[in-house]
Amino acid sequence: MTVHTRISGTGSYLPGEPIGNAALIAAHGLESSDEWIVERTGIRSRHLAAPGVNCSDLALEASRRALQAAGRKAAEIDLVIVATSTPDYVFPSAAALLQSKLGITNGAPAFDVQAVCSGFIYAMTIAEKFIRSGSHKCALVVGAEVFSRILDWTDRGTCVLFGDGAGAVVLEASEQPGLLASALHADGSHHGILSVPGQVSGGVVTGDPFLRMDGQAVFKFAVKVLADVAHEVLATAGMTVAQVDWLIPHQANVRILQATAKRLHIPSENCIVTVAHHGNTSAASIPLALDESVRAGRIQRGQHLLLEGVGGGFTWGATLLRF
Ligand code: UT7
Repeated sequence: MTVHTRISGTGSYLPGEPIGNAALIAAHGLESSDEWIVERTGIRSRHLAAPGVNCSDLALEASRRALQAAGRKAAEIDLVIVATSTPDYVFPSAAALLQSKLGITNGAPAFDVQAVCSGFIYAMTIAEKFIRSGSHKCALVVGAEVFSRILDWTDRGTCVLFGDGAGAVVLEASEQPGLLASALHADGSHHGILSVPGQVSGGVVTGDPFLRMDGQAVFKFAVKVLADVAHEVLATAGMTVAQVDWLIPHQANVRILQATAKRLHIPSENCIVTVAHHGNTSAASIPLALDESVRAGRIQRGQHLLLEGVGGGFTWGATLLRF
């Protein structure tokens, strides 16, 4: 019998209180306005982790909620994958720290996936291959980020866009179909349009440790590949756009989400939008949007979801699933 992979539970976590545009602008003395940010991005507020709160702390809260929703104990998890570009340390991985914080002592493999805003799609796809092979049965897949740590708070073109948070899913072997098709892609030749081009060397940071972005180039690239990769997974699954109940794209900019839905001929009311109150949380944005919509009762069991992401690298990918 074919082994399928299903999401058995979702969870998410946002640190602290939401911080509105006006408060952020005032706190950092930015030459900007609530009006500009809302009009160009759709973002109204975001959450930022307090000093000392790290990636694995956010991942822990989201994971506890996902485990509870799945009716699973941490000890039943046999694979831990965290998608992040802002791990606690250079090493060990945020996944290893998360495994320890959850008290998982069964020797389950734990590792991070670094594919920036596509990281959660990469991580789910990897977990699905482990489960489908029969080697693992119950995976914890997390997207967790503290992008506030890599923002240049004097650069108004980037610092207003991002937020911190985490989302998690428990993925399990199942007799019922769940994940139906996935596609992953990368083109490293675009590394220059979105990057944090620094490193730790000899005890100091060398290069530039802040996020740098050519916003317009990223925008154009994102809209094109998000539409292309959606068609790719639909074709693989032998399904049509009309069968998709919910489109859950990476949450970067409401204009990118609208343009993508339009290109795909998916009505805007079937596109989940959380960027207004989360900002861009990179690898966390898709599982955060998923969990919020599941808990709000919008996403129901049996519905078809199209999850897709694009980010630095460039990387992009999509997963089509029956929830
Ligand atoms: O997770 C994936 C990574 N990120 C993305 O997907 C982001 C993709 N790109 C975008 O979302 C948009 O390109 C931005 C929101 C980043 C920028 O919007 P835009 O409509 O492309 O604006 P722009 O970069 O062309 O800038 C227009 C003007 C510029 O001023 P001048 O040169 O026309 O005088 C900017 O300096 O807006 C200025 N500007 C701002 N003004 C007020 C840039 N940031 C701000 C700001 N407040 N925060």
